Amino acid sequence: MKAIQLKAPASLDNLTLVDLPDPAAPGPGEITVRLRASSLNYHDYAVVKGMLPTAEDRIPMSDGAGEVTAVGEFVTEFAVGDQVVSTFFPDWLDGTPPEGGFARVPGDGIDGYAVEQVVSPTTSWTKAPKGYTAAQAATLTCAGLTAWRALFVDGDVKPGDRVLVQGTGGVSIFALQFAKAAGATVIATSSSHEKLERLKNLGADHLINYKEVEAWGPKVLELTGGKGVDCVVEIGGAGTLDQSMMATRIGGHVALIGVLTGFAGPVQTAMLMAKNLRVQGLTVGSRQQQLDMIAGIEANGIKPVLDKSFPLANLADAFRHQESGQHFGKIIVDI
Ligand SMILES: NC(=O)c1ccc[n+]([C@@H]2O[C@H](COP(=O)([O-])OP(=O)(O)OC[C@H]3O[C@@H](n4cnc5c(N)ncnc54)[C@H](OP(=O)(O)O)[C@@H]3O)[C@@H](O)[C@H]2O)c1
Repeated sequence: MKAIQLKAPASLDNLTLVDLPDPAAPGPGEITVRLRASSLNYHDYAVVKGMLPTAEDRIPMSDGAGEVTAVGEFVTEFAVGDQVVSTFFPDWLDGTPPEGGFARVPGDGIDGYAVEQVVSPTTSWTKAPKGYTAAQAATLTCAGLTAWRALFVDGDVKPGDRVLVQGTGGVSIFALQFAKAAGATVIATSSSHEKLERLKNLGADHLINYKEVEAWGPKVLELTGGKGVDCVVEIGGAGTLDQSMMATRIGGHVALIGVLTGFAGPVQTAMLMAKNLRVQGLTVGSRQQQLDMIAGIEANGIKPVLDKSFPLANLADAFRHQESGQHFGKIIVDI
């Protein structure tokens, strides 16, 4: 079977197409999945660029979707032919986040889904939403679940609430779609006027070009009658947190998700305290939260926004496209 391995030193040029032996038959509690699609996340980019340390010959990509081709003994949840999507933390079934960071995350601490077939425990998968293609399902593992958890697990977004989403990457567009489905008002930012128009077509109520309006925190206050938003889906990190806290209402919630502007920076602690803010860090979510998200998606008919698709052999080109910042929504890998 074909796979992509990350050779040392990690770089896009060292993403290498290889032939590997097909996996053995599934053991008790395991299933075989024929992968059909994956999707790119910034986390995958950080792995393949060597920003996060990983083992040599690692198969990248945390997201995978495809169909079940064999089931092992004692498997009752899945049958041959089921369409499935991977979970980000295969061992985090429910409850509080697991210890061990990314050590057991596919495409990081263990091999991921840039491969044609895998055999793994049933807990590494859930069924895909009904009616979804593999490409659509593959967007849910990381970006979809992160947005879901930010809004509805760590947050309590409900009709009439105000939500701020930043940029037009995978997490933010899911957050826009989920927040609109929940009846919230959404303020969306982007660096591009053309992308802002597309956000408007997806239902964004207010638009801000964050390149032109650098102090977008006060702009958000202005748009909300001086109050601020209930929830910020914060994907910038160190360079955007101040504006996000400024944009949030007294007692509001900042879902601290991303690192696009850096891994560390000063925090306006007095503002955090004075505004009674809750800044909540998060790493994706549990298998149970994925099941809840899929139920929510099926109830609302939400479909992910797909950008370009690339064949598995051209995975490096898919990352180059992500690096260029031209994408809107999820970049797909066909397997
Ligand atoms: N903690 C978690 O569990 C978790 C899970 C998923 C992702 N993340 C993190 O969340 C971030 C986004 O991930 P992703 O996979 O959605 O990335 P992505 O699809 O590559 O999206 C990147 C987009 O972010 C926007 N952006 C870049 N710099 C920005 C800034 N300074 N202010 C506002 N928007 C900015 C750009 O949108 P425009 O082109 O429209 O400007 C860009 O296209 C990454 O840092 C990633 O590591 C964390």
